[in-house]
Amino acid sequence: MSTAISPTAYNYKVVRQFAIMTVVWGILGMGLGVFIASQLVWPELNFGLPWTTFGRLRPLHTNLVIFAFGGCALFATSYYVVQRTCQTRLISDSLAAFHFWGWQAVIIGAIVTLPLGYTTTKEYAELEWPLAILLAIVWVVYGLVFFGTIVKRKTKHIYVGNWFYGAFIVVTAMLHIVNHMSLPVSLFKSYSAYSGATDAMIQWWYGHNAVGFFLTTGFLGMMYYFVPKQAERPIYSYRLSIVHFWALITLYIWAGPHHLHYTALPDWAQSLGMAMSIILLAPSWGGMINGMMTLSGAWHKLRTDPILRFLVVSLAFYGMSTFEGPMMAIKTVNSLSHYTDWTIGHVHAGALGWVAMISIGAIYHMIPKLFGRVQMHSIGLINTHFWLATIGTVLYIASMWVNGITQGLMWRAINDDGTLTYSFVEALQASHPGYIVRALGGAFFASGMLFMAYNVWRTVRASNPAEAEAAAQIAVVGAH
Ligand code: HEM
Ligand code: HEM
Repeated sequence: MSTAISPTAYNYKVVRQFAIMTVVWGILGMGLGVFIASQLVWPELNFGLPWTTFGRLRPLHTNLVIFAFGGCALFATSYYVVQRTCQTRLISDSLAAFHFWGWQAVIIGAIVTLPLGYTTTKEYAELEWPLAILLAIVWVVYGLVFFGTIVKRKTKHIYVGNWFYGAFIVVTAMLHIVNHMSLPVSLFKSYSAYSGATDAMIQWWYGHNAVGFFLTTGFLGMMYYFVPKQAERPIYSYRLSIVHFWALITLYIWAGPHHLHYTALPDWAQSLGMAMSIILLAPSWGGMINGMMTLSGAWHKLRTDPILRFLVVSLAFYGMSTFEGPMMAIKTVNSLSHYTDWTIGHVHAGALGWVAMISIGAIYHMIPKLFGRVQMHSIGLINTHFWLATIGTVLYIASMWVNGITQGLMWRAINDDGTLTYSFVEALQASHPGYIVRALGGAFFASGMLFMAYNVWRTVRASNPAEAEAAAQIAVVGAH
């Protein structure tokens, strides 16, 4: 077998780069999550310095886990999937390289500016205008590479996973650009082009669809490729996947107002957001069932394959969080859950259970193939990682349910004379044990990532990238 690489072979270099950075940013972002969780247990960890306070590190955590960890996982997998399902190389290696380095530059920019206190104050859109513009340019380049590759595909049809990745790319660009419309007044300060309730509505149209398209639709693209591949079974229903796609993207975009219940937003908009959120259960569960049922006839593989376990358990958490979400969108339920740790628990059921677990499963699937190995260095270590991640997620979300419901009930309790039964500090004290359990759960999850890093490092060290690319080339030639 020749190891010479012809231009028809896939571009695995950029996939490898993004895959490795997924692990690196995962460790940093989740490590920081454990640190800010510990600050809520031991406030002394704020160190009395502005740069290390919870208020500045929290947005750094969200940027690192969503955009650095989640983003790199989405880019690595989408470039891998689009090349393999279209049987063609990415349209441009230099644009793909620009995408990789540009994205890392945005993240470094976030690591520097957020602790310094430069922020737009809009959640998940905190980066100030110079970084926001860089991000928009990098994103457009990503779109060019992805869609350009689809245009020059060698296959007749476009696999459904690419539809989900495609929607994630288009809608994220739209959300980012519209929500970031602002007037710069200095290099690091800008003011939103919108004001009042309109600003809030646009922000949560962005915020909710960042969840819907960044943290959900992109990862569903991942699910539609890696679950069938790892289970070695075709997707349960291709027809259902198409219905799933159109229903999901049609409904998600309307649900944003559930973040603004009982605010100055017009009542009809709140009710619309609530109704759309409840209907959203149907396509969400349609997708979850489609993934789960793909295992029909392959369930026994779960006994021996921890990668498949990661993928299936991620679907279970996806199902759970997309049941919980519509429930929390009901106004009466939201009047109890809003502002409490219940929301934080819901977020991490989706973030740890769904987003992180499916990414971890996909990376474990890809790494040996990218580095010319038959399998990961140690299956036992993947299994250890799986249990640390699962137990960590359960500890995190269970403690936040207890805290959230406790806080909600204590805040609304009133005496006969109409005064509050509990002070805020009493509710905070009642939450303390939950914060300890959450920090412990987070430490479980984050330590699992260290096992992953070691396992990846050992696999890469023994690797033969040239052989991996030659194998990819053979796959391309064979398809002709
Ligand atoms: C070891 C794992 C993690 C730990 C210990 C952790 C911890 C935390 C803590 C303490 C907060 C602040 C909560 C508060 O303000 O009361 C937070 C917020 C948040 N985290 Fe994590 N986190 C982890 C992983 C992740 C991952 C992997 C993601 C996303 C993929 C994520 C997404 C978020 C988001 C979106 C918020 C903001 C939630 C909101 O504003 O409602 N986290 N995290
Ligand atoms: C059908 C699906 C879903 C619906 C209807 C839904 C609904 C909701 C609702 C009602 C809230 C609370 C808003 C508030 O009181 O402030 C919320 C918060 C949140 N959800 Fe979901 N959710 C869904 C799925 C998910 C998934 C799968 C994820 C993560 C991958 C996720 C991530 C978040 C985040 C990050 C927040 C916190 C936003 C913030 O306040 O900063 N959601 N969701």
